[in-house]
Amino acid sequence: MPESPYLVIQSERVRENFHTLDAALAAHVDTTTTIRFAVKASPVPELLSLLDEEGAEFDVASIGEIDLCLRLGIAPHRLCYGNPVKKTAHIARAYAVGVRRFAFDTEDDLLRIAEHAPGSEVECRFLASAPQSCTPFGTKFGCTPGEAVRLLIRARNLGLVVAGPYFHVGSQQLDPDAWRIGIQQAGQITEALARKDISACTINIGGGLPIPYADPAPELGEIAAVIGHAAAEFLPPDTGLIVEPGRALVGSAGTIHAEVVGVRTAPDGRRWVYLDIGRYNGMAETEYIAYRFVTDRDGDPADEAVVAGPTCDGDDVLYQRTRVLLPTTLRAGDRIRIFDTGAYTASYSSVSFNGFPPLTVYVSDAERE
Ligand SMILES: Cc1ncc(COP(=O)(O)O)c(C=O)c1O
Repeated sequence: MPESPYLVIQSERVRENFHTLDAALAAHVDTTTTIRFAVKASPVPELLSLLDEEGAEFDVASIGEIDLCLRLGIAPHRLCYGNPVKKTAHIARAYAVGVRRFAFDTEDDLLRIAEHAPGSEVECRFLASAPQSCTPFGTKFGCTPGEAVRLLIRARNLGLVVAGPYFHVGSQQLDPDAWRIGIQQAGQITEALARKDISACTINIGGGLPIPYADPAPELGEIAAVIGHAAAEFLPPDTGLIVEPGRALVGSAGTIHAEVVGVRTAPDGRRWVYLDIGRYNGMAETEYIAYRFVTDRDGDPADEAVVAGPTCDGDDVLYQRTRVLLPTTLRAGDRIRIFDTGAYTASYSSVSFNGFPPLTVYVSDAERE
């Protein structure tokens, strides 16, 4: 048994998640849909190769992710450099290795793509008026829909190929209506483009597909139905859809195995449970996501605890606001498992802060114990 903490990802669960999403989209959406995996959610070579085999495309955020995909033999035309924040040198480098699809949200980025990746396909990210998700982007990315129209016309005039508008409703989006709103706005953009003789070939409807954690989430089928209806109502027939999931493909496939390092009652009487995993070695999303903790003492009386990570940092507390109930019998050395941690855990833990190493990942073809 390796020393904890470590993350085990069940590869077959990732394949199953891919098929479930593909089938939900096929059942509800009348147009071609492409699944493009957001590599940042879990840049694990075995999973990327598996998804490549299944026919996925890949959303890459950096030269590091591009190089990783290429090293695995993934064809560069299956990659989209989807991060609107990128250096000129990285655009040129991506183009040099064969990447031909880029996302942007500013004129400056567009001009640099036109110069350093001539003739490429471009998607313009706009900020959809969708409700907030659990882990919202705020206004970090995306121009206004009106600016998207102007920039995509400019893209055509710069000799680029207009792929179409692109939006992301925010990760772990629990309101299916968010996609309806985004698709309606994308439809308005495509209509305005059509008036300038530009036909958008694809609409990128982003990621955000949620999974159930401690709290429930809408079913993929329900969201796919909303997407299908909105596409039929607001988009010209034959407009392809691109879906860019990260969490929905890998989240449920991962389990973190951790250990209780100590238990203490603080001067204010609160019980603290210290784990060997915290915000800096994998649990970066705990302010937004209520994970399920499983211990070998489940069934014993339980009480509220403050769950903290192992570093000397005062911020290394998993839940500052949310109540976590754990068995009162929990002791140092006890094993603790954290379910549905396949997305945005190991990929966030890439710095050896305080000397604690990044989270180790094992890929397994066995079922979760
Ligand atoms: C550009 C882009 N696409 C797709 C995703 C995947 O989102 P999710 O994991 O919510 O499906 C992200 C996540 O941050 C993203 O930044």
